[in-house]
Amino acid sequence: MGFPEVRLRRLRRSPAIRRLFDAPPPPPAKFVWPLFVVEGERRSEPIASMPGQNRMSVDVLLRALEPVAAQGIGGVLLFGQTEGAKDAGGSGAFDERGVVQRAVPAIKRAFPDLAVMTDVCLCAYTEHGHCGPLDRHGQVDNDAANGLLARVAVSHAAAGADVVAPSAMMDGQVRGIREALTENGFEQTLLMAYSTKFASSLYGPFRDAENSTPSAGDRKGYQAAYGNPRAALRESVFDEEEGADILMVKPALFYLDVLAEVRRRTDLPVAAYNVSGEYSMIHAAAERGWGDLHAMARESLAALDRAGADLLLSYWAPRYRDLFG
Ligand code: PBG
Ligand code: ZN
Repeated sequence: MGFPEVRLRRLRRSPAIRRLFDAPPPPPAKFVWPLFVVEGERRSEPIASMPGQNRMSVDVLLRALEPVAAQGIGGVLLFGQTEGAKDAGGSGAFDERGVVQRAVPAIKRAFPDLAVMTDVCLCAYTEHGHCGPLDRHGQVDNDAANGLLARVAVSHAAAGADVVAPSAMMDGQVRGIREALTENGFEQTLLMAYSTKFASSLYGPFRDAENSTPSAGDRKGYQAAYGNPRAALRESVFDEEEGADILMVKPALFYLDVLAEVRRRTDLPVAAYNVSGEYSMIHAAAERGWGDLHAMARESLAALDRAGADLLLSYWAPRYRDLFG
């Protein structure tokens, strides 16, 4: 049978009919809010390129989390930075008195229902802004980076992080971190690998927020190339074999095909990182009157859900109620 007996528009004739068949929005528990933590007290500095997001000291952060936790958001992903001197190896990242190491137990105590995740990298702590120390040719030294990343992960686990999330894209970082966690008695700590993370032009606002732009060169020698999707998929397969508990595709909206493919290839949970550039471009368009802010945000998040993301790492998380009611 075909037209005129079949009329596809019947299923969307009225709000009452459409509502019967509309997929529900992703629940708040799927959302994780990426946060920028800074030293000091009473600090809340708006990030110009990320409207609505602030760098916060721990005291301010705890207050900001109250309405967020009340909405039933699943967790937070913490990014730290240092006021102190940066160095060649980013040693501030594993300082036990660092901001992330202090923020974790404070959040756990105040909000036992939130999963506390930490980004494990060195770029906000190295003087050159790369995700690991440089060798004498100026390349990131993979194996030296791994030793440092393992120290960072152990320091976060010791602070009580539920999930550590290595984002440096070093070969073997997941194995090294898993081994270090086990050796140090943190066998219950979850490991969420930034497994397929692309060298992307969408991280600009984040690098403003984190002050982590490389002073020379770029990250193409370690982050995946979007021109080579097979190699990018291998990165996720590899991290599963190395002991990751959760895989991730990042960025998310420009890589829905990759997200769906990773989802198909693994039985691990898959996270989608809805990155800073994806968030900020929607704000920029809305500010110019080129689209409705909330409608664009909802539509983009529905795409991530539909592509199979189990977790949505998104700067929209604190706005859940505004978006989905
Ligand atoms: C650093 C890191 C980056 C992001 C998360 N961890 C930036 C980068 O790789 O340069 C990007 C997040 C975002 O843009 O929202 N390892
Ligand atoms: Zn990094």
